[in-house]
Amino acid sequence: MIIKRNKAELAEILEKERQKGKKIGFVPTMGALHEGHLSLIQASLQNSDITVCSIFVNPTQFNDPKDLERYPKMPEKDAQMLEKAGCHILFLPEVAEIYPEKDTRVFKFGILDEILDGARRPGHFNGVAQVVSILFDIVKPDKAFFGSKDYQQVMVIKELVKQLKLDIEVVACPTLREPDGLAMSSRNMLLDPEERKAASLIPLIMQDAKRLKYEGKSIQEIKDFVNEKLSHNKLYRLDYYEICNASDLSPLNSLNNSVRSISLIAVFVGKIRLIDNLALD
Ligand code: PAF
Repeated sequence: MIIKRNKAELAEILEKERQKGKKIGFVPTMGALHEGHLSLIQASLQNSDITVCSIFVNPTQFNDPKDLERYPKMPEKDAQMLEKAGCHILFLPEVAEIYPEKDTRVFKFGILDEILDGARRPGHFNGVAQVVSILFDIVKPDKAFFGSKDYQQVMVIKELVKQLKLDIEVVACPTLREPDGLAMSSRNMLLDPEERKAASLIPLIMQDAKRLKYEGKSIQEIKDFVNEKLSHNKLYRLDYYEICNASDLSPLNSLNNSVRSISLIAVFVGKIRLIDNLALD
């Protein structure tokens, strides 16, 4: 595996491959890799000739400096995992390489940036759009692979690609889960054993909530159920639980079978904020 820290050198290598007719697959990450990331690498390997992974903890998407500080960083271990997985190129830039100057661009994503994580983490998706547009410009992938755990992020990135008229296919890959159902996330490793145990109830509560839909319960009743379940343990602090239209994320007030619906949750377990989602159809 080739490791590049310099964007011009990376772009040069990729341009040569492109000229040979090779298709580039790209997996942007913030490191602290787990099986979920490796499944994105696999998807890219199966669907492209050259797979590039980037590891960059993007400061502009953290609205809480403490969250940025505690975000796990382990580039050597990540590089070993990528090498073993068969990734061809790792891009590992420093902050100055990505942001030689302050990025002042403001993206407009309408409702996508105003609800759920957009509302709770102001500026977060703008920061994601800044870094992803820069990385796309360097790598110029044919396809880019993202995990569906970050459902709203995938929608924002699809919209970004549309707005910038980029010829990139954004591929949403399934969420990988731990044996107890917890969605894989780099943040899981920040949980202490008690928090980790508590976190495993999140997917179960979401599944139980989904069942209520089929019992004919209203959205308010389903939300009350989730709130009530989480109130049993002081470690939890619910940030949001919403049921939205799966195709545009507009919040739903009632459930009917003509609209695909999805439930999305953000919950603090101790200090660590976890997100997950579950299609309700
Ligand atoms: O999902 C992530 O890890 C990040 O938000 C991304 C897409 C790599 C941008 O920094």
